Amino acid sequence: MKLTCLTLQNFRNIEYEKIYFSDGVNILVGKNAQGKTNILEAINFCSYLKSFRSCSEQQLIMIGKEFAKIKLEYKDFSDNCVIEIKIFKTEPKQLKINGITVAKNRQFIGQFLSIVFTPDHLNLIKEGPNKRRSFLDMALCALDIKYTDALLKYQKILAQRNAVLKKSADCFENSLLLDVYDQNLAKEGAYIAYSRAKYIEKLEPFAKKIFMEMTKTDIKLKLLYINQFLKTADCCEDFETAILERLRKKRQADIIARVTQSGIQKDDILILGAGKSLKHFGSQGQIRCAVLSLILAQSKVIYDIRGDYPVIILDDILSELDRTRKAFIFKGLENTQCILSTCEAQKVKNRGNILKVSKGRII
Ligand SMILES: Nc1ncnc2c1ncn2[C@@H]1O[C@H](COP(=O)(O)OP(=O)(O)O)[C@@H](O)[C@H]1O
Ligand SMILES: [Mg+2]
Repeated sequence: MKLTCLTLQNFRNIEYEKIYFSDGVNILVGKNAQGKTNILEAINFCSYLKSFRSCSEQQLIMIGKEFAKIKLEYKDFSDNCVIEIKIFKTEPKQLKINGITVAKNRQFIGQFLSIVFTPDHLNLIKEGPNKRRSFLDMALCALDIKYTDALLKYQKILAQRNAVLKKSADCFENSLLLDVYDQNLAKEGAYIAYSRAKYIEKLEPFAKKIFMEMTKTDIKLKLLYINQFLKTADCCEDFETAILERLRKKRQADIIARVTQSGIQKDDILILGAGKSLKHFGSQGQIRCAVLSLILAQSKVIYDIRGDYPVIILDDILSELDRTRKAFIFKGLENTQCILSTCEAQKVKNRGNILKVSKGRII
């Protein structure tokens, strides 16, 4: 996928700007607080309809304006595509693909594929499991509309089940209702668990290879899908049975705790280097390499599934990497388009298409 042109209007500190991108490496250069991350945020928002800064949509609108607009032109194989997003203060946002209005987020997500890597991702391994779950969810939602549906349904049922558990500690009164919730959670949860298992299975060999090349060691990276019910499964049904069984077994405990304590909302990925948990035993350098390997591996999996590479967005991470890893980034991204930001103008000279950002403008 190749992003060719981005037009922003009232997007954060950018009042109006039309930005052209070239194939290969594009580098947004500028001092702090000029709008570099804002531009990357707008691009990535087009993929997931969610900001990687985890803020509300309305925060994207320039202060004092009524709406924000993003128009993104890109090449998908050889076709020219245009997507447009208009975000309002109070009304729902408007989405268009090639001029045609799209009613649902789920039909829009994953049209334009990009993956992002920010300094915050460096905590992916160190922090709690929800970061790692959202790493999986972002990728899977963009690749599989059925996954998005299952996740939304699951979250809704889980909230309903928890509401029932909160209201009353009387298990007999609600047992029929809980039976229904459990069956539905198991059904949607099974699709989610199965997809996560398969995705991690696909990701691992790519991540392993990239990690070895990057660290120039023979330390083997291993990814394990951690859930409460099954190590592996050949089909969705196995997960369904296992999740249901676990929900039933834990129902009494849930009633006492007044919250659902089992399910895919507790999943995690365990990342091992040479058989040891990197979270607990990895050096800072190893952890950085492992995270980068996971992100770059994600791009390979997307290529495997969709036949096209996503646009890779790297926000302000060059200063976090040493020279060999930087060189690896520039080398490893040959057949993909990459858009990155940095404050260090001298260090990226002749490395790609330089776009200077100042006060919300390209100069
Ligand atoms: N909704 C908004 N309206 C106007 N300005 C905003 C909005 N959100 C952020 N900004 C401004 O954007 C600037 C930060 O831009 P950012 O892209 O994060 O900078 P950097 O170039 O360091 O990556 C700040 O000056 C901030 O005040
Ligand atoms: Mg920034």
